[in-house]
Amino acid sequence: MDEKAQKLASAKQEAGYAAADMVEDGMVVGLGTGSTVYYMIERLAVRIREGIRVSGIPTSYQTAMRAREYGIPLTTLDDHPVIEMAIDGADEVDPKLHLIKGRGAAHTREKCVAAAALQFVVVVDEQKVVNRFSAPVPVEVLPFATRSVMNQLRALGCVPIIREAVRKDGPVISDNGNFIVDCKFYEIPDPRALELAIADIPGVVESGLFCNFMDKTTVIVGGEKKCRVITSADVNTP
Ligand code: A5P
Repeated sequence: MDEKAQKLASAKQEAGYAAADMVEDGMVVGLGTGSTVYYMIERLAVRIREGIRVSGIPTSYQTAMRAREYGIPLTTLDDHPVIEMAIDGADEVDPKLHLIKGRGAAHTREKCVAAAALQFVVVVDEQKVVNRFSAPVPVEVLPFATRSVMNQLRALGCVPIIREAVRKDGPVISDNGNFIVDCKFYEIPDPRALELAIADIPGVVESGLFCNFMDKTTVIVGGEKKCRVITSADVNTP
């Protein structure tokens, strides 16, 4: 691993570990997806071995497999429709704590679990904290409606591209059996309005814009040796 990759891994680890340390005995915790959450799972497993009793709701097959490997007891959203905390990564965080998620195509289940949580803890490294979104917005789409959804996404001002798989020919198929369309917008002046407009298209399952959770969000930004924390108290509202 080169020095830059090493620094990034340390930042993710700092954030992931700090989030796992927020978990309290007896909690049901939403387990997000991705490389930063991976470190959270690693640390949570240690805390479980040390004696806290916790169960997790995984947001993807990847997380379920990792959590089982690490000995974290799992449960479901059906069994726990309201949970104390969800911990997840993000692709970008803007100054109002809006998020873009879904690089790993898990954003639909991630949003369901975040919505069910009383506290939403987001773990990122410094390069994901931005003034304006520039990442593409992932949209999970019913395969049946792909072309009509793409036309309507285009009309919202983006260039939509069906995400291609890497070690499989053809499109990525999400854990829910759907396609992912990555939408590149030149700019997103009002992320919440865009989230609602995308949700309004028949055939859209869910977008990776998370703009409705600011009040319960704590962002842990990992640095090389320590973290900084951003909450809604730090957000300037007009
Ligand atoms: C999964 O689909 C995503 O929403 C991830 O949570 C997000 O992309 C962050 O992943 P990393 O921590 O790997 O960057």
